[in-house]
Amino acid sequence: MAAVNAELDESSYLAQIDLDRLPCHIAVIMDGNGRWAKKRRLPRIAGHRAGIRAVRQAVEACARLGVPYLTLYAFSVENWKRPHAEVELLMKLLREYLKKEIGELNEQNISLGVIGRISELPAPVRRDLERTIEETKGNTGLRLTLALNYGSRAEVVDAVRALVAQARSNGEIEIDESAVSRHLYTAAIPDPDLLIRTSGEMRLSNFLLWQAAYSEIWVTETLWPDFTQKHLFRAVTDFQKRERRYGGLGLE
Ligand code: FPP
Repeated sequence: MAAVNAELDESSYLAQIDLDRLPCHIAVIMDGNGRWAKKRRLPRIAGHRAGIRAVRQAVEACARLGVPYLTLYAFSVENWKRPHAEVELLMKLLREYLKKEIGELNEQNISLGVIGRISELPAPVRRDLERTIEETKGNTGLRLTLALNYGSRAEVVDAVRALVAQARSNGEIEIDESAVSRHLYTAAIPDPDLLIRTSGEMRLSNFLLWQAAYSEIWVTETLWPDFTQKHLFRAVTDFQKRERRYGGLGLE
């Protein structure tokens, strides 16, 4: 007899998912690349490289399910504090990913978007992002958003600056929740329903603080490079068992 808490396989989790109640937006804090590499006595960048495999797994799982939005926290405003060589290699990996994946994105009808202070990224990275965004903009399936040079507090500061600039130019200012939301980088994206974090840390790490107000949070001990479609399907099955009350009583 199988143990009660035994892990199921990918197809068993997939079979449990109710496709009529999918999360509309899944956001992921991809954490644990460094620890994955350390466990194998490899340089940290080997962990990031292996992390790309997991990116493909997450993207493919969302595309298979028909989840409309997936947002991945790929580089935070705080990540510049890492050694220069690691930052350079992360940028290189991102460019490699964009070049290699463009065909697959188009094949799977996926469009690319970005959030963050993109103008501060190195010019070659910006060019590759712009090209991929342009070449996938007609796709109508999954919207894959990469959070790059992203920080939630910086995003709120940018939104406030934009609101003030608008008020200065037209002399009126009306600030409510919807005005703030409209000035965030995520203006065109619904708030995440499900927020996944790998490697067991229980933190938001300056990711989508405003937008995640009512997100269901799902944390796995699995390190990001070991994340597979099975983990995403499992997160969605757990999500579907939760009752979302948005501060109310959850009564009909
Ligand atoms: C966190 O692991 C991961 C990152 C800071 C970068 C994530 C980047 C990738 C998965 C590769 C590039 C991404 C794309 C979308 C092409 P960590 O280094 O903080 O791990 P640690 O906490 O174990 O040190």
